[in-house]
Amino acid sequence: MSGTSFDQVAAIYDQTRGGERRGDHFADALAPWIVGPTVVELGIGTGVIAKGLQRHGIDVVGFDLSDAMMRQALGRVGSRVVVADVDRLPLSDECADTAYFVWVLQLVDDPIATLEEAARIVRPGGRVIAILSNSEFDPADEIATIIDGLAPLRAERLGRNQIVEADLSRLSLVHHGSTPWDRFPSTVADEIDHIENRIYSSLFDVDDATWAAVVEPVLTQLRAFSDPDRPRERRNRHPLLVWTVD
Ligand SMILES: C[S@@+](CC[C@H](N)C(=O)[O-])C[C@H]1O[C@@H](n2cnc3c(N)ncnc32)[C@H](O)[C@@H]1O
Repeated sequence: MSGTSFDQVAAIYDQTRGGERRGDHFADALAPWIVGPTVVELGIGTGVIAKGLQRHGIDVVGFDLSDAMMRQALGRVGSRVVVADVDRLPLSDECADTAYFVWVLQLVDDPIATLEEAARIVRPGGRVIAILSNSEFDPADEIATIIDGLAPLRAERLGRNQIVEADLSRLSLVHHGSTPWDRFPSTVADEIDHIENRIYSSLFDVDDATWAAVVEPVLTQLRAFSDPDRPRERRNRHPLLVWTVD
């Protein structure tokens, strides 16, 4: 999947993914692991995490393929954003202190090659950090339990364990944990809207037959709620992996 697919959701990305609240939450999780003054976000999207890191005194240069997402980042974090493919970064070797990804490695063709490209641009002793998109939900979260029915659609080429166990040249894993639990409000009606309008990247390219077999049963269960507009507090957390560059 190309990053340019995100052009179609850029205008509503923040309101459907937690916006600056989520950006601050992930920035707080990343900040203790970031080293050095030259920090790059690979797949910066709308810049919510880079904005959150500014509160920690950390300035970020961002790269992304989606012009529409980047335009939002430009308004949010200023001119430090560049249109580029994270697999072919327009940067020289060992020019950065830290490179990080949030919810990007599930979108690239070969996550191991993408991590190695990140390692190429980071100096020895620097860090590569990834927050993966594989959500861990509260088992009491009834919306999450139903939405888990969409799991077969997730185009994650590698799962958490395969990334953790991968033999990466120049990268040594120094931390394998999770972000803190994030609490956020959501309604069943919102989730129905997000699925029907293919807001989630795993739904961008779903064909009619797969939609009928996988997505419709999930929608049917959500439409059965008698109180779809009642705000529900939800909780999730995500894998956080940190490598040092050898
Ligand atoms: C799920 S969004 C995450 C954005 C941001 N990191 C965040 O958490 O809000 C994924 C972003 O990665 C970008 N992307 C996907 N594949 C890419 C690639 N090969 N090169 C550069 N950016 C890419 C998309 O355009 C999109 O903005």
